[in-house]
Amino acid sequence: GTGPLVDTFGRVHRDLRISLTDRCSLRCTYCMPEQGNEWLARTSILTLDEIERVARVAASAGISTFRLTGGEPLLRTDIVDVVRRLAAIEAVAPDGTRSPVQIAMTTNGIRLPELLPGLIDAGLTRLNISIDTLRRERFRDLTRRDRLDDVLDGIAAAAASGLRPLKLNAVAVRDVNEDELVELVEFAVAHDAQLRFIEQMPLDAGHTWSRERMVTREEILETLSRRWRLTPVPGRGGAPAETWILDGGPHRVGVIASVTAPFCGACDRLRLTADGQLRNCLFSTTEFDLLPILRSEGADLDAELDAMMRGCILRKLPGHAIDDPSFLQPTRGMNAIGG
Ligand code: GTP
Ligand code: 5AD
Ligand code: SF4
Repeated sequence: GTGPLVDTFGRVHRDLRISLTDRCSLRCTYCMPEQGNEWLARTSILTLDEIERVARVAASAGISTFRLTGGEPLLRTDIVDVVRRLAAIEAVAPDGTRSPVQIAMTTNGIRLPELLPGLIDAGLTRLNISIDTLRRERFRDLTRRDRLDDVLDGIAAAAASGLRPLKLNAVAVRDVNEDELVELVEFAVAHDAQLRFIEQMPLDAGHTWSRERMVTREEILETLSRRWRLTPVPGRGGAPAETWILDGGPHRVGVIASVTAPFCGACDRLRLTADGQLRNCLFSTTEFDLLPILRSEGADLDAELDAMMRGCILRKLPGHAIDDPSFLQPTRGMNAIGG
């Protein structure tokens, strides 16, 4: 095929989220069970060459941003090489003009102090770091690991690196960090970063999510507006976060209200799991298996990959339907989908 990846609702796909591993150094309750999951088989995990091959085909079809996720992407021992190889790819616009791709990463921050210089040198352009609480015991309860200091060191390294915009993600969790929202924003501001609060989605391994328990966009905004004057920033485009200027600026806060105010209508994302499955949505129930193509001896593997990508996009539904009575949570947990 040729031309951009357009679905049946006219959404043009420009963002490929690549999960590099399902493993993680933390065990956040909204994502993974205490004991971890049954990990993906090592032999099914895409190699650096295979990832690069899929990424090249995607860039030829108009994908201009690769976001590396996990599990925890920094657990890949070849992470710097992944970034270097992907950063060398050029995105091809519909008129044929070529430009460098953006390489973004979403990480829990652990290991950033040692890895960040190499990642930036390799071509990393943007970083989002997850931090749900600044309190040690809470952090340990929520992530089941006593590693707050490592995460804070990672955020400090990111702030010092000058990589901008720097975003910090916090899932708002009932009875866990609800009373800490203002402090989290102040912490982000002090690091010249943008805090984004995330509504918890039904993607936890234990399937314990409930809409009633979820902290909503509405509640978050109410709490924040008691402390700051919030001025909405227009022109969100395909971004999942709505953003507001704090008081007179320049700092901002964001909310990703995937449940109560979904951005599905503007979604421009395609996902690749660590074991080579294409997904057209976080919540899709079907996957498109690239492994047999990648590991075959066919003459035109790239054309086959391109056809799979287009087929995957054509089957994309208008939205996630979390509110439907018939909604089914995906069988994979968030750590194996890629966030
Ligand atoms: P930016 O490009 O910096 O805005 O990154 P991002 O917000 O797309 O990525 P990040 O990995 O930081 O994700 C933040 C939150 O948005 C996570 O909870 C993601 O699961 C959620 N998110 C990202 N993409 C999608 C999506 O396609 N659909 C939904 N519903 N949520 C998404
Ligand atoms: N709902 C919303 N966000 C989640 N994340 C992980 N699990 C969930 C969930 N169930 C977030 C992480 C990270 C990003 C990739 O997704 O905290 O910031
Ligand atoms: Fe790891 Fe991210 Fe899942 Fe937490 S949310 S367990 S940091 S993959």
